[in-house]
Amino acid sequence: MSEPPAGGGATAEAARAATATDAALGATAVATDSAGLEADLLLTGIADLATPDGPGPHRGPAQGRLRRVADAAVAVSCGRVVWLGPAAAWRGRAERTVDLGGRAVVPGLVDPHTHLLWAGDRYDDLEARHAGASYEAILARGGGIRHTMRATAAADRATLVRLARARLASLAASGATTVEVKSGYGGSAAAEIASLEAIAEVASSARVRVVPTLLLHVPDPADRAGQLAEFEERLLPEVARRGLARRVDVFVEAEAFTVPEAERVLRAALALGLDVTLHADQFHRVGGVELAVRVGARSVDHLEASGPEQIAALAAGDTVATLLPGASLELGGGHAPGRALVDAGVPVAVGTDLNPGSSPVYATSLAMALTLRLNGLRPAEALVAGTANAAAALGLRDAGWLGPGSRADLVVLPDRDARALVAGLAGPGPVETWIGGVRVTPGEAAGAAPDGHGAPDRHGAPDGHGEP
Ligand code: NIG
Ligand code: FE
Repeated sequence: MSEPPAGGGATAEAARAATATDAALGATAVATDSAGLEADLLLTGIADLATPDGPGPHRGPAQGRLRRVADAAVAVSCGRVVWLGPAAAWRGRAERTVDLGGRAVVPGLVDPHTHLLWAGDRYDDLEARHAGASYEAILARGGGIRHTMRATAAADRATLVRLARARLASLAASGATTVEVKSGYGGSAAAEIASLEAIAEVASSARVRVVPTLLLHVPDPADRAGQLAEFEERLLPEVARRGLARRVDVFVEAEAFTVPEAERVLRAALALGLDVTLHADQFHRVGGVELAVRVGARSVDHLEASGPEQIAALAAGDTVATLLPGASLELGGGHAPGRALVDAGVPVAVGTDLNPGSSPVYATSLAMALTLRLNGLRPAEALVAGTANAAAALGLRDAGWLGPGSRADLVVLPDRDARALVAGLAGPGPVETWIGGVRVTPGEAAGAAPDGHGAPDRHGAPDGHGEP
């Protein structure tokens, strides 16, 4: 596709109009030649289309740069965007046209960090935290993540899948069209594989693209060395062989795995051709960020405790820094240095970290909006963080942006201005989610039964039994 010649009639005029209406988001308006194009679908009536200009990661000034088109149209064929630009510049033919009625459109949101497969609840932890106990102290005494591991082990697969679908529907209702889902509430090789099988079942019926990740969450206090050997010798090879996940995550923290333990597992994963990512610097700087850069991790997530040395280490590498503002909001600690990371040229992404303990955030758009309030990002930077850079954190090039060749995954906002997505907390109201050029309800997006959205987040037996 070529750029229109300068001063080229209606196209250039429409492009100029788009530029003129552009506001603080910092945008370019580019129209590509659409003459002769055949599309299944043409979306029109887009008052404001705002998208990263191509796949991420986008860093430094590019993190704040959006392609922004006023009075836009998007042409879709076989689930992919084939053209977008000012509607007045469309010269192709479309089988069907849908008028979105003067609303704003952004790419489908990408949530690169969730733990949405769990059973039970953490209501007792919530009480304990609000009575003064810290998250780490609760974990150290066998609660927290370890409590959720017991409740997850006690639930059957059908229950886990149903609960996960309802949570996936919530994220889709906020505009998420690609969602990463971690295991990690298993512990043993067999339990992690069972979790990944449940995630695969969710993925198989969901319209949302589900990206599974094997997470090694907390060590087995009874046999730390034996657990690591089992992970390396049995779990990783089986996960790679069966394609249950293409990514491996390790929680590096004082109460979780050490840097040498994580390095051993991550190098074994890399040797099997898997991608790696880490939970690091959530509470303590124990070297997790430096390890992420050293092994070439796709992303390193949390960073609440990161300082100038960690920012410098990231700036020298290619690892995406993923902010999880829900966790620092919930736990009340420091917030990750998002502003300093962007200013240092580190590509920054954002995710919900949806889990029952540290980040009960059920809206991807809320996580994005929180980066303005807690991490110092600007609206355009937050939009890139929750779309193209989040896709880059997952190693995906066809999601998180809109343009020829991208997936036709998009969010239609109930507002004329794309900034509405991050101006409101949990969005400006109900959004419309399109996946592969098809408008989907949250339930359809998650593969749930028609009434699946909002199903009770419980599984029969009262929770809390077996708590130490
Ligand atoms: O990213 N910090 C480790 N893992 C999760 C918390 C999971 C949980 O508390 O259940 C996180 O915050
Ligand atoms: Fe997490």
